[in-house]
Amino acid sequence: MFSREEIIEILNKPAEEIFTLADKIRQEQVGNEVHLRGLIEFSNICKRQCKYCGLRCENKGISRYRMTPDEIILCARNAAEAGYKTVVLQSGEDEYYSRDILCKIISEIKKLNIAVTLSVGEKSFEDYQAYRESGADRYLLRIETTDRNLYQRMHPGADINNRIRCLENLRELGYEVGTGCLVGLPGQTLESLADDILFFKEINADMIGIGPLIPHPDTPLKNCNAGSLKIALKVIAITRIMLGNINIPATTAMETLDPDGRMLALKSGANVIMPNVTPVIYKDKYEIYPNKISFSENASQSRQFVEEILKKAGRSIANDYGFRKR
Ligand code: 5AD
Repeated sequence: MFSREEIIEILNKPAEEIFTLADKIRQEQVGNEVHLRGLIEFSNICKRQCKYCGLRCENKGISRYRMTPDEIILCARNAAEAGYKTVVLQSGEDEYYSRDILCKIISEIKKLNIAVTLSVGEKSFEDYQAYRESGADRYLLRIETTDRNLYQRMHPGADINNRIRCLENLRELGYEVGTGCLVGLPGQTLESLADDILFFKEINADMIGIGPLIPHPDTPLKNCNAGSLKIALKVIAITRIMLGNINIPATTAMETLDPDGRMLALKSGANVIMPNVTPVIYKDKYEIYPNKISFSENASQSRQFVEEILKKAGRSIANDYGFRKR
């Protein structure tokens, strides 16, 4: 296990061996199978003002949409028929989807015998409890950064303590809990990235999503540099080494930054891919950052495409639900 100082040192210097070690541990702990999660981006309406995100409420430059519950359920059905064992329901923090509406969507989708992951932001304990009782299995809520000052600068009006409260509630309710961070926020230090990794370990996260910042032209971070792919890969690798059997996606942001990014992530500790299965009429509008990569127009084409690239890398698509291997 690495100490804080050792993590900082690895992040600071060329350290190719870390990728080899992470790949080996990934193979020992979770094998060569890659889990696919079909991502449904069901609303780009958001009440928050995260400085880096294109969905922030102050961005008037995107056209906003909400999928109806029926559209969401149909989209999940298509994904299930294409062989996905998990769908991820993600949106901005959009209050239109009340507890009741979301619970109905979840319980309908659960009838398809697939796992449901939610990624809809900070909610109350009671909301999380109701979603769980309706059948939600997992929840993604990145901490984004554990540096309290940076957190505050990046998230006007938000409170990191509430985010931590959410992660604790989710754990208590028996969700598989996913968190993660952005790499390359302005003013972020390698020390704080080391603290992020130690935080993942401390809360014993089941899933960790890591991606480089990609500046969005219609946000306050438009003139910032993009995050470093190399450092993001190192954060993935160290996280794999330190947390062992968790699930780690090769995120879309990695590939958006570099055509090889997703494959590099899969060789540096990642074991999950989240193909976008959002209907084409909405997909382009979910612009968290510009030029977001997506494999294909529909769920089953995406799956075939992914299968082909995985084969070349000696990996295969898993057929189980892809819960954390314990
Ligand atoms: N670049 C990269 N990732 C971003 N996210 C939000 N905005 C950006 C951006 N500009 C990430 C956040 C969020 C996830 C859904 O997308 O980390 O948790």
